[in-house]
Amino acid sequence: MKKIKTQKNKNIRASAKKQISKSVEKKVKKIEEQVEVKHKSGKTFNVLRGMKDILPPEEKYWRICYHAAENLAKFFQFGRIETPLLEEANLFIRSIGKGTDVVDKEMYVFEDSDGEKICLRPEATASIARAYIGHGMWNNSQPVKLWYWGPMFRHDRPQAGRYREFFQVGFETLGNADPSVDAELILVAYNFYKDLGLPVNVRVNSIGFPEERQRYKTALADYYRAKRNRLCDDCKHRLAKNPLRLLDCKQEQCQSVKEDAPQIVDWLEEESKNHLMKVVEYLDELSIPYVLDPTLVRGLDYYTRTVFEIYTAFEGVENTSAQSALGGGGRYDLLAEQMGGRPVPAGGFALGVERAILAIKQFNELNKIEMPQESPDLFFAQLGDKAKKRAMKIINDLRNSGLKIGYNFTKDSLKSQLEIANSQKIPYALILGQKEVQDNSIIIRDMESGNQEIVDQQKIKAIMLKKIGIK
Ligand code: HAM
Repeated sequence: MKKIKTQKNKNIRASAKKQISKSVEKKVKKIEEQVEVKHKSGKTFNVLRGMKDILPPEEKYWRICYHAAENLAKFFQFGRIETPLLEEANLFIRSIGKGTDVVDKEMYVFEDSDGEKICLRPEATASIARAYIGHGMWNNSQPVKLWYWGPMFRHDRPQAGRYREFFQVGFETLGNADPSVDAELILVAYNFYKDLGLPVNVRVNSIGFPEERQRYKTALADYYRAKRNRLCDDCKHRLAKNPLRLLDCKQEQCQSVKEDAPQIVDWLEEESKNHLMKVVEYLDELSIPYVLDPTLVRGLDYYTRTVFEIYTAFEGVENTSAQSALGGGGRYDLLAEQMGGRPVPAGGFALGVERAILAIKQFNELNKIEMPQESPDLFFAQLGDKAKKRAMKIINDLRNSGLKIGYNFTKDSLKSQLEIANSQKIPYALILGQKEVQDNSIIIRDMESGNQEIVDQQKIKAIMLKKIGIK
């Protein structure tokens, strides 16, 4: 009987697989047809809305942000974690919560060919909690401190600083409930911008535990209900769906209502209040500029107690709208338990890399700061086929010397090659012609004075390292 049942299941699975693969085939065919039509009509392909290519001139900004994060991670002892871009959709639905914008409107969810509901990760905290539980990290010494850097996906309305694919750098500390953890996380986030030379402000609040929050939500909804006719349409909707989000509204007509709204701190138990006070005492001690913002509630459901956001603090940049938050985070003491693990008090934050880069550019423009150019130490100019061949060999031999070498093998005239060296303000040029190839010599030209010397090719590495000052 069991055998028959197993066989039956197998048949069902096989036929389901066939159906799925047929439907996948159909979809692929349709896409191919669309591509064909596009191709025939001479149309080119565009990057998807809200997504972008990151081209070489931008790379320096990405690199300095990555290095700032990497250095902080090393110093504060966070280990690098990499989690997949694709996860079970339910991971985020369960953790971020139904009723939030991210889950209700912004997730890229689809069925894969096995019929599984998967999604492109909209954030990484839930993935980190999943990994902590899955790898039994409670057996490690606590707290476990992890950091990540990578793309996240949210199908939001694109605008300046808001993309559908964007990068976050995040730090998470799992396994400790002490306020010093929250303070350390805020310190790391603050230092990230400080190391990039950006003045920022931190906004801090506590949203308590769910019971405290529930009582506050009721009081808030009662207050707003009595003033319903003064609210914008969105807020009328929020009133029924998620009263906390009323505090986020930026519409002018709702501001005066917000001013007298009850504040969550009055609904917090002593322990939550003390926790918040201890966090801010650390911030005072660390001289981190912060404001206690009773309207800060964050848009994800997993937070408990401390929440914070970082904003630019320099003139000329609008820093009140939600999308100008450079980063945000908070405690999520109940998340691991909600996901089926044992209770693990934890906290973390994530910073938007594109927003950090935008802020660097705005700050540099306001203060007329130029990004340092990374130009080569020397330019290799060659004349003739034989010289070109030898030049490539010498350049490759110098690869591990620490010297940065510029060259352009598509140019044949010495004049045009030296022009490149000049335009990039490269201090020295090496010149290799037919004659130098024959007698194993090479010319070193000081680009500023124009002085030239002829040296043995074998000695070029030592001579140039000395000239450039590399030990
Ligand atoms: P979040 O506030 O949703 O928090 O995102 C953190 C940061 O990511 C934002 O402050 C912003 O800089 C950037 N960001 C968010 N959405 C976009 C977008 N569409 N385009 C460009 N940048 C964006 C989280 O994701 C939480 N996981 C943070 C966290 C970590 N909480 C605890 N641990």
